[in-house]
Amino acid sequence: MATTQTSLSHVWPLGSTLDAHGVLQLGGCDARALAREFGTPAYIVAEDDLRTRARRFVEAFKARTPDFEVHFASKSFPATAVLRLFAEEGLAVDVASGGELHLALNAGFDPRKIHLHGNAKSAHELQQALDARIGDIVVDNLVELDRLTALIPAGGRQRILLRIAPGVSPDTHPKISTGGPNTKFGFNLDDARQAIAIAQKSDKLDLDGLHFHIGSQILDLAPFRAALESVLTLGDFRTYNMGGGLGVAYTRDVTAPDIEDYVDRKVGLLHELLGPNKRIADEPGRALVAHSTVTLYEVQSVKHNVVTYVATDGGMSDNLRPMLYDAKYEAMVVGRPNESHATQPVHLAGKHCESSDILIHDVELPDPRPGDLIAVPVTGAYGYAMANNYNGQPRPPIVFVSNGNARTVVRRETYEDLTRRDVE
Ligand code: LLP
Repeated sequence: MATTQTSLSHVWPLGSTLDAHGVLQLGGCDARALAREFGTPAYIVAEDDLRTRARRFVEAFKARTPDFEVHFASKSFPATAVLRLFAEEGLAVDVASGGELHLALNAGFDPRKIHLHGNAKSAHELQQALDARIGDIVVDNLVELDRLTALIPAGGRQRILLRIAPGVSPDTHPKISTGGPNTKFGFNLDDARQAIAIAQKSDKLDLDGLHFHIGSQILDLAPFRAALESVLTLGDFRTYNMGGGLGVAYTRDVTAPDIEDYVDRKVGLLHELLGPNKRIADEPGRALVAHSTVTLYEVQSVKHNVVTYVATDGGMSDNLRPMLYDAKYEAMVVGRPNESHATQPVHLAGKHCESSDILIHDVELPDPRPGDLIAVPVTGAYGYAMANNYNGQPRPPIVFVSNGNARTVVRRETYEDLTRRDVE
């Protein structure tokens, strides 16, 4: 057994270490003990990592501009405990549906700090937002503008932003690119001019500003300039919400811009092009939550075909990202870190009845065996969010770890949960 202390790469949650025996410690808790207590698969979330990144966003804005708001893009990790933590840290929140609005209200967000998105908001969802007296409704299209206006009672007013499709595509996976000329999101520039004219004449709508979100997992920040320049052709407003999008390093060979670089770029652009007095909003999701979480799995079987398949007890039910976006992750056999053992490439597979259910292709691991505990880092963003019950798999629990303490904040689903909504 290795006895050297090996340091962990930047992809692991803040505060993660290997003990003298090479066993992963998360938030001061031993990964093997966590697996014994909470079972596998499990999402282990380092609470301090979440808080630190929230504070870095807030401090980075505070140091650069007087009037700003950081909105947690709740779709990235829509768990009550996560929402509550960000509310405690003073963040605002972006919700993209009536369900997310419900979650944000339930978690204790001040309604004025909740902002509603969506390219297909129903009258019911708009009414829900009006009833809750939320902050901004980010209007996506002309139909919605009419629908919303009709719902606002005489004498009432609602603050809105318009979501603009700036015609700019960042370098990211096409399935998470949202600002290009063919996107389903937001107004093209012609429709935006029409919407601005309508909103400015309305006695029910306060058009406060413009919003754009060009995509997600953005590692090259350059396209934000073209996007903002495009949006600025629509006129001068009080508020600019530049969406989210900051990418993260999923594997140790990748370096992502840090939070401060990203904030510096966005604030700098706005100051350069519009002066220092605008209200700036930003909507980070992934960059707030991705690194906080490690998924623990147990190896169930190992099979030597042309390639070696190492099959875990989870897979596409707890992490759809490899299947949807060819997302790359790394992994560790707990207690047998790569740094001190010979490795070979294996496919880390899920348990689901589908060939595409491979969590990581060709990942270098040291002789994984049945019963081994596998840790996959950077699973906080859009993992739990897109988890599902394929093959009747109960969704994993969410366990918060901090200072050597671990607590369940979302329990594992049970078989009873699988039939709970059955009416017949
Ligand atoms: N604002 C808006 C309007 C958005 O649509 C999104 C993400 C965000 C902010 C947050 O973006 P972020 O900072 O997380 O990049 N399921 C995909 C990601 C979809 C992103 C959807 N919108 C994935 O797992 O990569």
